Amino acid sequence: MVRLHVNIDHVATVRQARRGLNPDPVAWALLAEQAGAHGITCHLRKDRRHIQDDDVKRLVKKVRTLVNLEACLDPEMVRLALASKAKCICLVPENRQEITTEGGLDVIAERKTLAKVLPLFARKSQMVSLFVDPDPKQIVAAADLGAPFVELHTGAYSNAKGKTRERELARLRAATELAYDKGLRVNAGHGLDYTNVAAVAELPHVEELNIGHAIVSHALTAGVHLAVRQMLAQMGVVR
Ligand code: PXP
Repeated sequence: MVRLHVNIDHVATVRQARRGLNPDPVAWALLAEQAGAHGITCHLRKDRRHIQDDDVKRLVKKVRTLVNLEACLDPEMVRLALASKAKCICLVPENRQEITTEGGLDVIAERKTLAKVLPLFARKSQMVSLFVDPDPKQIVAAADLGAPFVELHTGAYSNAKGKTRERELARLRAATELAYDKGLRVNAGHGLDYTNVAAVAELPHVEELNIGHAIVSHALTAGVHLAVRQMLAQMGVVR
């Protein structure tokens, strides 16, 4: 059965809009766990635009399932990921200007750095996944490096429509088969939502989906009645 890891970054985005304490992404993560999430994912970015260092520390202490920490290959971020005690580490590319992670890691270009850092994570029993596009060359390079997992970037599939989406799904399917044949375990994520997730959840060999924005945005909409009713009650307005 495919597992769901809920990405809580955008709960922190809302909090950072006021640089305050609410909403607390850690408290929200615990609610996601209660609702059945199999793990919690967050991305500690170099610019700290959403998740903060203290969030990661609190998540690792409080989350009962597992924490999957996304980090880039910048030496400082690798050091923090190694020190974090997060059980899973997803290595991602990062560009300060991007709105979200735009493409997969170039495993071929980063081969030397990855060959250095992968054993460091293995020594700490942290399971690493490399976030890659569903590109055979990247998957073969990840397998050659002995990475335990790849996370396939589903962004191109999620953004496509009609026949192009069918082609992107076929590309994902071929990538899962190749990764599995090469001995890699396979996760997937990015841009998945309530309308496009089913086909990806059905792909062979996919163990875990990382989904954030769609769940956080749906939670905002699903919670609006309760939030407004409770405010009216505090105002003494009877409805
Ligand atoms: N997987 C990775 C590696 C990501 O960087 C992200 C976005 O932070 C996701 C999954 C989740 O993407 P989304 O928020 O679009 O569900």
